[in-house]
Amino acid sequence: MIEIRKAVIPAAGLGTRFLPTTKSIPKEMLPLADKPLIQHIIEEAVASGIKQIIVITSSAKIAIEEYFKRNLALESVLQEKGETELLEGVRRISTLANISFIRQDQPLGLGHAILATREIIGNEPFAVFLPDDIFDTDPPLIKQMINVYQRHKGSVIALRQVAKEDTVRYGIVKTDQVAERVYRILDMVEKPAPEEAPSNLAIMGRYILTPEIFEALIDTQPGTGGEIQLTDGLALLLKQQAIYGYAFDGTYYDAGKPLGFLKASVSLGLHHPGMGNELREHLRKLVGN
Ligand code: UTP
Repeated sequence: MIEIRKAVIPAAGLGTRFLPTTKSIPKEMLPLADKPLIQHIIEEAVASGIKQIIVITSSAKIAIEEYFKRNLALESVLQEKGETELLEGVRRISTLANISFIRQDQPLGLGHAILATREIIGNEPFAVFLPDDIFDTDPPLIKQMINVYQRHKGSVIALRQVAKEDTVRYGIVKTDQVAERVYRILDMVEKPAPEEAPSNLAIMGRYILTPEIFEALIDTQPGTGGEIQLTDGLALLLKQQAIYGYAFDGTYYDAGKPLGFLKASVSLGLHHPGMGNELREHLRKLVGN
């Protein structure tokens, strides 16, 4: 059985939907409940058995790299003050996983970002997490997708039904169902108009990819928005090998925009052991039962 040991988290995009905040703060560093968005993603990867994580950043996103380094000055202040719990929390961040960073200094597209990890990934299947996409599933969505990969031995992409008028915002697939929640992908199109969409099953931000994706991305020409699109690379890969879709059961939040981020914050806050009860009481006061 081939294990999925490595994950890529592309985080070098401009985050225009979150302006003006993202003018100086990477959206991946905004706190969702009690920790930055990207820490939730890394914990999801670790909980799914992934050991090595490659984060793609840019020179505008140094805060992400700093966050995962040790801060010895802060640690010694916390130690002197006897703040043992805070100290443990701060130290834990740099021990979560084996995390490395690759810079993509021009945002030439998600496909271009993934291609930059070719050497470090090598010849093995790997996971991709788009950090904007938050999924409330049990077990973690990527863990379920790893099971699908082990059974079908091909790349797996997360799928979700979207409203017909929303197809212009997603990669959309044409499929054949092969098992419960599992589909074989027949075709895929990036951001089609509703009348051109082959279905209303949209590609979401979790993938298990075979290493042949790198050759496909080398051959991928710039597409929508002049960017090298991962969906276009997957469409080329589909000509050589089977790709599967997994229509997960659970809730999805688009944390790449303020309203989606707020919804995810409330949901995670309500489940948080230290915050949930008080937050629930507060929401009841605001909106009634
Ligand atoms: P998005 O299309 O959501 O772009 O990228 P974005 O820049 O994050 O946000 P908006 O749309 O401008 O508001 C999907 C994921 O791919 C990464 C992004 O950081 C995000 O996690 N990405 C995108 C890159 O790493 N490099 C790119 O060139 C493009």
